[in-house]
Amino acid sequence: MADLNHLIAEAAQDFAACNDVPALENAKAKFLGKSGALTEALKGLGKLTAEERPAAGAAINVVKQAVEQALNDRRDSILAAAQAKQLASETIDVALPARAQSAGGLHPVTLTLRRVEALFHSIGFSVADGPEIETDFYNFTALNIPDNHPARAMHDTFYVDSGNDSMEHVLRTHTSPVQVHYMENNTPPLKIIAPGRVYRVDSDATHSPMFHQVEGLWVDEQISFANLKGVVQDFLQKFFERDDLTVRFRPSFFPFTEPSAEMDMSWNGGWLEIGGCGMVHPEVLKHVNIDSEKYRGFAFGLGVERLAMLRYGVNDLRHFFNNDLRFLQQFIK
Ligand code: PHE
Repeated sequence: MADLNHLIAEAAQDFAACNDVPALENAKAKFLGKSGALTEALKGLGKLTAEERPAAGAAINVVKQAVEQALNDRRDSILAAAQAKQLASETIDVALPARAQSAGGLHPVTLTLRRVEALFHSIGFSVADGPEIETDFYNFTALNIPDNHPARAMHDTFYVDSGNDSMEHVLRTHTSPVQVHYMENNTPPLKIIAPGRVYRVDSDATHSPMFHQVEGLWVDEQISFANLKGVVQDFLQKFFERDDLTVRFRPSFFPFTEPSAEMDMSWNGGWLEIGGCGMVHPEVLKHVNIDSEKYRGFAFGLGVERLAMLRYGVNDLRHFFNNDLRFLQQFIK
């Protein structure tokens, strides 16, 4: 039988030339495959005599094991090299500077609402809220605005399709319905503000279909218009940090207050309208079972965006709702 030892060196050489596992598996066929040199040699054992066979078999096996060893060694080193390469290419540079954290900020309307709430809180008002989708009753009727009253047309109302529901729903056109909810569920003395979103069909540089109001309501036995003036003026002086700021009232009409007034505040030598107000109408008190002979109250509604525009010097209401980061980032402290 031919000497097979040269196969060991040959296999080592062939395997060394392989740089990946598939190539290595191919190279192995020549030695260990179905018609590989060692397989053929084993098949040839049958032709030998029974005496020759054990020694020849053992010799073939020594070579076969050496070739298999060479194969396994080469496979290990190919895999180790591939892993080393992957590790090198995927290393993390811990010395790279970190990505900057961009901190968010509160929206200017939110900042304004918080300021309003804090100031009213400091003089004993608590905060109440109510639904933004209102029934026609709370938005109008309970506020002494009957069906077909022209005051309904003053508010360009968004009506909500209520499906089969017999009650008509609207997006509240003002925060005044919160007065009714609150008075239904609480007994005087009452001292609240009700900040929140309101909706009207209106859109230009000074009107948005959604905007914010702050309602104020103080009901007690001795509340007068003088209290209203004091509270509002005091609030505005603190809000704008101007001790010389004054308010004036112009006679007006709201169905749910009597008498009613528009509130103006002094601003840069002129007057600016900032909301409506008045003494709570006895009809409204009657709706919520408060004795109007015993209790009286004032109510007011302020436009929050108007306050924010003046405080921050914003010239177009739409900036608040366009979500332009260049605008919003200016309010991050
Ligand atoms: N709700 C009124 C409006 O939106 C403002 C107002 C509130 C007037 C409270 C009087 C009393 O126009």
